[in-house]
Amino acid sequence: MIDKIKEELGKVFYPGKTNSVVKEGVIGSITIDEGVVSIELLMKEDNANAIQILQKSIPSAVKKIEGVKDVNLIINLPKHNQEPPKLQHIRYILATTSGKGGVGKSTVSVNLAISLSKFGYKVGLLDADIYGPNIPRMMGIEGIPVAIDPKNKDKILPIVKYGVKIISIGSMIPKDAAVIWRGPLINQVIKQFLNDVTWDELDFLIVDLPPGTGDAQLTLAQEAKVSGGIIVTTPQTVALDDAAKAHDFFVKLKVPVVGVIENMSYFVCPKCGYRADIFSRGGGKTFAQNVKIPFLGEIPIDIQIREGGDEGSPVSVSNPNSVVAKAFADAARSIIETLKNA
Ligand SMILES: Nc1ncnc2c1ncn2[C@@H]1O[C@H](COP(=O)(O)OP(=O)(O)O)[C@@H](O)[C@H]1O
Ligand SMILES: [Mg+2]
Repeated sequence: MIDKIKEELGKVFYPGKTNSVVKEGVIGSITIDEGVVSIELLMKEDNANAIQILQKSIPSAVKKIEGVKDVNLIINLPKHNQEPPKLQHIRYILATTSGKGGVGKSTVSVNLAISLSKFGYKVGLLDADIYGPNIPRMMGIEGIPVAIDPKNKDKILPIVKYGVKIISIGSMIPKDAAVIWRGPLINQVIKQFLNDVTWDELDFLIVDLPPGTGDAQLTLAQEAKVSGGIIVTTPQTVALDDAAKAHDFFVKLKVPVVGVIENMSYFVCPKCGYRADIFSRGGGKTFAQNVKIPFLGEIPIDIQIREGGDEGSPVSVSNPNSVVAKAFADAARSIIETLKNA
């Protein structure tokens, strides 16, 4: 069987190269356990795009072989001798990510940032979702351009709103402009947002990453010491499967994971009080237990959250005493506790 697998792998091209993955030398050990094939992938470059392609092309090639039930790819990233630098002026960098888009990652980032700022911390919010920068809309700063720092012409000033310092590519390019970002450009933008923005002293910098396992995650982990990743998921199985991949990616990048926030956990009818578990129930907590990371809290579905996001007035500002604003504040408290004990 192994020979057949190697033969099939010999036909899979390494993305962007004319050689097969075998010739490129990225195939490590291959093991078979009751029809499940595990293949070690020894990446020589941090190329998220290549990884994403190989995650599809290798399993689909190997699954053609008779008797193969499933294919597991174990991805090894190249070793970096250098530890990422600790940014001296920022105490904690927290990165929110999710497996899927639309699970409320930006909503959580925004409300966590505001909650932390209300506790008295100095907070920054970096929108690293280059493809879908919706922090400006959610924070009500759409259309406000960023300015050069008059004290240091090499730096840009973040926009301050609701006590949070914000930077987003959305404040720099025209709205609805179609921008094609290739990996190296994303790296540049994230590097600049970390290093060329006048953050001054910050207790927390919340980084809203794009969903999935891509260049933004890779760049952030290399450019700065991230204190903790926060995984945002909804309770249903498909979202959790993807959340598991996002978690694995953080582990590979050696980013400690602070915990899981379950969003859209349930809906309580404001008229009759009936609780509906629209996206199933308890999945986030079970996931957290399975991978042994803290469960940071659950946020229900609430019209005020959606309206607050659309109108640029997050619920943590517009209705701080609501159940949902308190849920965000509780999650922020859990994060502080976890970091203290780390
Ligand atoms: N708990 C919630 N209740 C109601 N609407 C929500 C909730 N969380 C997010 N939303 C809405 O769902 C949409 C997607 O959320 P968003 O934060 O943009 O997701 P992501 O950043 O993961 O793509 C937004 O319109 C947002 O206002
Ligand atoms: Mg988003």
